[in-house]
Amino acid sequence: MGDRHMFEGNVTKFLNPACVITLHTNSTRLSPGDISKYGKIRFFSIDGGHTEAITANDLRLAERTIATGGIVALDDILHPSWTGVISGYVRYKREGGTLRPFALVPNKLFLTDGSSVASYRSFMRSEFPHLTDQQDREFIGDMVDVFRELLPERPRWTSRFKTKVRKRVKKIKRLMRH
Ligand SMILES: C[S@@+](CC[C@H](N)C(=O)[O-])C[C@H]1O[C@@H](n2cnc3c(N)ncnc32)[C@H](O)[C@@H]1O
Repeated sequence: MGDRHMFEGNVTKFLNPACVITLHTNSTRLSPGDISKYGKIRFFSIDGGHTEAITANDLRLAERTIATGGIVALDDILHPSWTGVISGYVRYKREGGTLRPFALVPNKLFLTDGSSVASYRSFMRSEFPHLTDQQDREFIGDMVDVFRELLPERPRWTSRFKTKVRKRVKKIKRLMRH
């Protein structure tokens, strides 16, 4: 976990703290049973140790604890500074991991179980056609769709203001040349 204080603040702000169980521990010391005794996991975010060994460990934990249709988000999958993450994903696949990717979004790979992958792929295609960058790209033994970032819409007045400023700057430059 990163900043526990910030985490608890966000739990209070966005969730019902009475419904949240925090396991403050090292993921490599957790067994699947330590997690699934609280129920099957519907969303599993992996963003802890960015080494090959820890990433592979966390993917195995996720595989063994998610519900059917559960989603696993693997952070920093293509981050150029955190090469342990992609290495861990490759190791997990090579060792027979069964999670399947269905979307590569900026900075994260979304995975699910084999029986749910097709429905998530078609959901993403139908819900986010404007964000689809590439379809059916090879990704370490699977095919995956690639999505771009959803950028906040710029209010119209900002672009009008920018155009005005650009025109003025051009005019001033022209005048200065004469
Ligand atoms: C990139 S930070 C992100 C933390 C969290 N996702 C957040 O946004 O606050 C990674 C954190 O995971 C912790 N960490 C590293 N290896 C871990 C492991 N095996 N189990 C649990 N936490 C780990 C690190 O100490 C660090 O604080």
